[in-house]
Amino acid sequence: MAASSSLQLNVRALRPLSETYRFLSTRSFRPSVVRCSAAAASSPSKRSYSITLLPGDGIGPEVTAIAKNVLVLAGSLEGIKFDFREMLLGGAALDETGVPLPDETLAVAKQSDAILLGAIGGYKWDKFEKHLKPETGLLQIREGLKVFANLRPAIVFPQLVDASALKREIVEGVDLMVVRELTGGIYFGKPRGFGSDENGEETGFNTEIYAAYEVDRIARFAFEIARKRRGKLCSVDKANVLEASMFWRKRVQTMALEYPDVELSHMYVDNASMQLVRYPKQFDTILTNNIFGDILSDEASMITGSIGMLPSASLGDSGPGLFEPIHGSAPDIAGQDKANPCATVLSAAMLLKYGLGEDDAAERIENAVLDTLNRGFRTADIHSDGTKLVGCKQMGEEIMKSVESQVPAAV
Ligand SMILES: NC(=O)c1ccc[n+]([C@@H]2O[C@H](COP(=O)([O-])OP(=O)(O)OC[C@H]3O[C@@H](n4cnc5c(N)ncnc54)[C@H](O)[C@@H]3O)[C@@H](O)[C@H]2O)c1
Repeated sequence: MAASSSLQLNVRALRPLSETYRFLSTRSFRPSVVRCSAAAASSPSKRSYSITLLPGDGIGPEVTAIAKNVLVLAGSLEGIKFDFREMLLGGAALDETGVPLPDETLAVAKQSDAILLGAIGGYKWDKFEKHLKPETGLLQIREGLKVFANLRPAIVFPQLVDASALKREIVEGVDLMVVRELTGGIYFGKPRGFGSDENGEETGFNTEIYAAYEVDRIARFAFEIARKRRGKLCSVDKANVLEASMFWRKRVQTMALEYPDVELSHMYVDNASMQLVRYPKQFDTILTNNIFGDILSDEASMITGSIGMLPSASLGDSGPGLFEPIHGSAPDIAGQDKANPCATVLSAAMLLKYGLGEDDAAERIENAVLDTLNRGFRTADIHSDGTKLVGCKQMGEEIMKSVESQVPAAV
């Protein structure tokens, strides 16, 4: 009885997260904006999914192993089966095949219902030529899957308020979403490369470029998300200096005419980076380009306490979604059982919700992570006095216990 009443308490305490994630529900999303996997959409009774697992490098294999187990358990409790195929990406692929994204990996990923990625990269490959870097494989798979919209929620878990580097009163209640354009802008723009200027001075250069359709589709995506959240969208750019940003702002303003219910504001990126640490609660949904989103979402992660807590989803108009923690391969702690698996486990929850439309199983996982935190378990990155310090594996085991101990969502 004592156990069940504490579970009740936990479940109640968990509600805010489910509320926070309500906009993720594929049930309420326009299909043209956020896809549900073809498998899930065409046959609601289909409860078996193919998942491509890309553990990658460093702590990637440690955290994906846990997320896979959690997926299997949560799925089995909700009547869902998974067929996993583990493929190579990043440094692991370079070592085996000589390229960071083997053709077979992309082919298998494209045919699956969803992809769960750990992280790529490491010191070993740092000096490789650009086309042979693990990071190139990551950019290639995002491009190959045409996942142009990267969603990065930054939520301050009530249990982790004190793990933030910022003061309690600044971070308590932060719940924002960064919508980052993922397959365009300066990371992909041409021309790019190395050369020399008119004085013979060596140069390195990249191109920040966006076509109208690229801005429009990510803007529409962000407006839809803002509409499902608190109805506020802040578009971040550098329109006081960059033509690409002026164009971005113009397209976003035009798109806003279709969303009179969403309050649109604009902010320069330098101010946004300052406002994020000064008063993060002012933000609901942030829309931004590839490079600004990369930087701001890492900054936002530190508001929440640890990069080890934050998941992400990358989605396109069709085809499978790519789900991954926002952190990298953390070579400094790889192989030491120190990694926080929560970001990858929560990415698995996003996979269920966004990729497969399996909201109940997703909520089971989200609630299990909160329940584990409520029970006081912490990996080193979020540990504080009075909580129980555990390694990556034990954190995973505790999450599994929480998954199992929940009352089925349908009851
Ligand atoms: N999506 C990706 O796969 C991705 C993203 C960023 C960086 N990288 C690559 O990862 C490598 C390391 O990059 P970095 O050090 O800049 O970023 P990182 O995210 O790997 O690590 C930054 C810091 O956060 C810590 N950290 C990260 N994830 C953690 C977790 N789950 N639990 C506990 N602590 C965690 C690390 O120990 C490190 O101190 C580089 O090769 C980089 O290119 C990959």
